[in-house]
Amino acid sequence: MKRTKVVDALACTDFGKDINVKGWVRSHRSSKAVDFIALNDGSTIKNIQIVVDPSKMDAEELKSITTGACISVVGTLVESQGKGQTSEIQCKEIEIYGLCPSDYPMQKKGQSFEYMRKYGHMRLRTNTFGAVFRIRHNMAIAIHRYFHEHGFYYFHTPLITGSDAEGAGNMFQVTTLDLDRIAKSGKVDYNADFFGKRTNLTVSGQLEGELGATSLGAIYTFGPTFRAENSNTPRHLAEFWMVEPEVAFIDKDELMDLEEDFIKYCVRWALDNCKDDLEFLNKMIDKELIARLEGVLKEDFVRLTYTEGIEILRKAVADGVKFEFPITGWGMDLSSEHERYLVEEHFRRPVIMTDYPSEIKSFYMKKNPDGKTMQGTDVLFPRIGEIIGGSVREENYDKLLAEIDSRGMKREVYDWYLDTRKYGTCPHGGFGLGFERLILFVTGMQNIRDVIPFARTPKNAEF
Ligand code: 4AD
Ligand code: MG
Repeated sequence: MKRTKVVDALACTDFGKDINVKGWVRSHRSSKAVDFIALNDGSTIKNIQIVVDPSKMDAEELKSITTGACISVVGTLVESQGKGQTSEIQCKEIEIYGLCPSDYPMQKKGQSFEYMRKYGHMRLRTNTFGAVFRIRHNMAIAIHRYFHEHGFYYFHTPLITGSDAEGAGNMFQVTTLDLDRIAKSGKVDYNADFFGKRTNLTVSGQLEGELGATSLGAIYTFGPTFRAENSNTPRHLAEFWMVEPEVAFIDKDELMDLEEDFIKYCVRWALDNCKDDLEFLNKMIDKELIARLEGVLKEDFVRLTYTEGIEILRKAVADGVKFEFPITGWGMDLSSEHERYLVEEHFRRPVIMTDYPSEIKSFYMKKNPDGKTMQGTDVLFPRIGEIIGGSVREENYDKLLAEIDSRGMKREVYDWYLDTRKYGTCPHGGFGLGFERLILFVTGMQNIRDVIPFARTPKNAEF
């Protein structure tokens, strides 16, 4: 008999029909007259109830079907008497695929996330992580649909690169050289390396994405990026996924419109397509979740310059607000507590912050005529802090070269990049959205390690 997915079995009203479902046991309750097995196959947050007549099964075998076991059930689909369920299965036959010994780490309900991270490979089978990763999938679909519908091309940029896209130097090196031998000899010969030069894992696909935008008009990348920053925080990963649209002929206002429209599309997609999972998370993880998602759709994002932001923070300090990192004044980099004060306390909605001091931002950003600030467009979100980093790019060859020089970066590494400005340069801009930060917002989860199946953080590369 062909298998029916649990999600379809629950939606089916063809009562009286025999079906086959397969999945993992969430719970097994026994009484003299009847056993109830809640079965889940990952297709939905919901379980289907299997009603078993114990007199028709071997008692020992039935007893052995505990939480976590994998079984196949043939039975009759009947209308459920239970509250909140449409259908259930009157069991005729059970085949056991895999029993689950009592040391199964996900046995008990209500374990802490920290505990579950220790068993990261097994936590995927829990309700919460099932919901999170179904939503993660849906957000990836939403991203592709948004850009496809808006005339952007999905553009693949390399993961192994010779350049440093952010100029920040926090890269993982890629090498085939024998590190033990180098340690003994003290000599490094990059010519002998696989690529014949020093290479690293990309920190951003932006620079290559700019090549795409200046040929295809509008592109987006969506892939893994890597940062060797020693940030052990609930918002940082060493390997995270980034979405980077890049658009020719876009100005700062249009770029902000794009950022806002794009995020709202993703949030709307989640509300429309992940209803059951969101309701589960709203009940179990964060009672404000759905209201917060709906709220974001209703409001315009605040558009605020960095200079105005600093003024608000200064005033907050004067009014007695205490920050761990002091507000030292114009030119300082904002930390996430400052960003979160602005979005959570002051405005109580997302903020697009613009016109940062050039010195605290990357080399490729277009400077304003004041020579001090640049046309950045970062989006700050409640609970998250920075969710998007974006800017209009410096399209002038001489200015870009001067910036590369003044920052002590190696010209020759950026030859190909400078060619975008040398040959038929155009005004353009784009942004990068941290995919996991979006998932954090949409799921209400607290820690970025819990919204990616296999988290990579300092001193942690298990599984
Ligand atoms: O602000 P960032 O560093 O910008 C760039 O990489 C640009 N090249 C993007 C562009 O304009 N094409 O990073 C962009 C976003 C951040 O706003 C944040 O959401 C996320 O990437 N991000 C991280 N997410 C998880 N872990 C980390 N270590 C992250 N670093 C940045
Ligand atoms: Mg940034």
